[in-house]
Amino acid sequence: MTDRFESSLDICFSVPSVHRLRFTHDVFGADRQILAALLEPSAAEPARVQFWLDANVAESCPMLPETIRSFCDEFCDRVTLTGPPEIVPGGEALKNEIHVLEGMLRQMHAARLDRRSYVVVIGGGAVLDTVGFAAAIAHRGLRLVRLPTTTLAQADSGVGVKNGVNLYRTKNWLGAFSVPWGVVNDARLLETLSDRDFRGGFSEAVKVALLKDAPLFDRLCDAAPRIRRREMDVCLPIIRRSAELHLEHITRGGDPFEALEARPLDFGHWSAHKLEAMSDFSLRHGEAVAIGIAIDTVYSALALGLPVDDAARVLACFTGLGFALDHPQLADVPRLLTGLEEFREHLGGRLTVSMLPGVGRPCDIHEIDPKLMRRAIEQVRHFAQWPTWVSSQPARDRQPGRVQRDSG
Ligand SMILES: NC(=O)c1ccc[n+]([C@@H]2O[C@H](COP(=O)([O-])OP(=O)(O)OC[C@H]3O[C@@H](n4cnc5c(N)ncnc54)[C@H](O)[C@@H]3O)[C@@H](O)[C@H]2O)c1
Ligand SMILES: [Zn+2]
Repeated sequence: MTDRFESSLDICFSVPSVHRLRFTHDVFGADRQILAALLEPSAAEPARVQFWLDANVAESCPMLPETIRSFCDEFCDRVTLTGPPEIVPGGEALKNEIHVLEGMLRQMHAARLDRRSYVVVIGGGAVLDTVGFAAAIAHRGLRLVRLPTTTLAQADSGVGVKNGVNLYRTKNWLGAFSVPWGVVNDARLLETLSDRDFRGGFSEAVKVALLKDAPLFDRLCDAAPRIRRREMDVCLPIIRRSAELHLEHITRGGDPFEALEARPLDFGHWSAHKLEAMSDFSLRHGEAVAIGIAIDTVYSALALGLPVDDAARVLACFTGLGFALDHPQLADVPRLLTGLEEFREHLGGRLTVSMLPGVGRPCDIHEIDPKLMRRAIEQVRHFAQWPTWVSSQPARDRQPGRVQRDSG
């Protein structure tokens, strides 16, 4: 024992986490045991459970509140419903209204939720992000169970460990990392989705395929017309694979809370997030991601040696899925490029952007050549209007990680 007060203690420790992901066909019907099993009773008592519903889902499925009540009645040994589902407006506007958050916290407080209670949220990515954030900060973290109702939320965001809202016109400026207690991807919940939102999630599936699973990218290219027709025997396995790849990255990638500089799952997202804000959020996240990936893919062809045929396939895959790759805001390149600095600020440290020198073979770069990026944006717009590849210019230096100088 020393009397000295000054000392340093650096202790590494890790906190074990379990990520529970389930795939079902009818979560409140034939598969209801799966959801019930996720909701563990709290000590000797049933756990309190509060349901939150995306208003557009509630409108499309008017029986859902009643179904939820019967579900909780049937499993009353496990859960006690705190009241009727809380219904919140769906879509990005929710994430832009900071005062909504306080209202959510008030409802969680009024329902006397504790850290063994469950917040079950049913909705699109925007509702999951906002309710998830409220649940992450109430009592420093309630148990969150997500039932994503869009293809995007099932294929990507639902399994994520990020929650948050937009502030100061910046996407996800306010938020928290937290691992959901459970996620149930239910096929039936996708049935009422509009074609526009059904398409949306497949841009994230293309993204994760390009980063991690080249055969999945081939499948997406081949299946694009059938995905567009919503043939579920084709769509569901792709959604499932995309969710699994995202989950694998989060749980096995070594950096779930993004402490390191690279953020590979955000391929194409520096411009996507900026475009969403520039379009006053009239562009959906999935639509903006398709454009953002197209831009960074063409940049990768111009600067990093991605074969031009592969880049053309990526763009054709998006148009085959029904995505528009042009947008009026793409004309304002200087403003779009400020998205790079915003992206850097969000993560801290030096700029790190994932690019694609080969399908299934991403790399990180730390510098973007603005002239080449401008050219990439022009080529994406050109492709959108005349869907053939116009660039015959090969990259001079095919070393991954090096950014080309523009020749003029
Ligand atoms: N947390 C993360 O890791 C992460 C990852 C990717 C994206 N996101 C976020 O997710 C959001 C986008 O999510 P999204 O693409 O699901 O869009 P969304 O939540 O905006 O939903 C799109 C529209 O579909 C409606 N809707 C949802 N499900 C429906 C259904 N089954 N039937 C009828 N209508 C339905 C919604 O009410 C909304 O109007 C963005 O805010 C994005 O930033 C978060
Ligand atoms: Zn995304």
